[in-house]
Amino acid sequence: MKSVTLSTLRDLKSRGEKFTCLTSYDATFTHLMGEAGIETILVGDSLGMVVQGQDSTLPVTVPDMAYHTAAVARGNKGRALVIADMPFMSCVRLEDALSGARTLMQAGAHLVKLEGGLWLKDTVVQLARGGIPSCVHMGLTPQSVNVLGGYKVQGRGEASERLLAEAIELDQAGTALFVLECVPTELGRRISQAVSAPVIGIGAGPHCDGQVLVLHDMLGMHTGKPARFVKNFLAESQDGIAGAFRAYVTAVKAGSYPAPEHCFE
Ligand code: KIV
Repeated sequence: MKSVTLSTLRDLKSRGEKFTCLTSYDATFTHLMGEAGIETILVGDSLGMVVQGQDSTLPVTVPDMAYHTAAVARGNKGRALVIADMPFMSCVRLEDALSGARTLMQAGAHLVKLEGGLWLKDTVVQLARGGIPSCVHMGLTPQSVNVLGGYKVQGRGEASERLLAEAIELDQAGTALFVLECVPTELGRRISQAVSAPVIGIGAGPHCDGQVLVLHDMLGMHTGKPARFVKNFLAESQDGIAGAFRAYVTAVKAGSYPAPEHCFE
């Protein structure tokens, strides 16, 4: 199968065709995702919670991310686009961001994901100069859970205009991809239409260009109450985990996931 690149995702966006993303942290799941046709794989710092058993993503380090990125890259066989998360506090100082991103790219990532907003603009520009495309994660940014006061929907009321304006400026600065988490459906639609880079939503409604879920969530493996946007695709699979991945691809491409019950007003 042909490798997925940023150009592939931009083409899909321009044609209004949805694409898929799942988190993965190892080679075997990555291989199965590739077989199911998942276009993008996120080595998320959610690994802190679902793999390491931490209470949040804050303890995750660049070496942790590099270890899992290398495992995913080995399972990927070059087909899916691999995004690796820059962990907590790794982007506050530019020199740390450049050094951490180099480590993750050398481990096998195709681009890095940074959580934040407009304050990341210079970092996005400097990374691109060094040959590293950036995905900016906006809305609910779990690394800032202590500032946000919990895992809450973002971008309601006046905050929606600020989030939209920041996304547009980051897009113009050269951001290659966005992840938009837990925002009202209407804001997900406005941002996806306003920026040229593809937008991957999680709890951001059906109008985003792509969708992402955490692997353990979409397989129904929760330790607590799942978030509103989570759907268990294993529950309706006739063919185990591989069938769950295929059902997810079918549902996202058909526009049946996310359904209204997975979205926020
Ligand atoms: O770390 C992660 O898994 C993520 C997703 C929730 C988008 O950032």
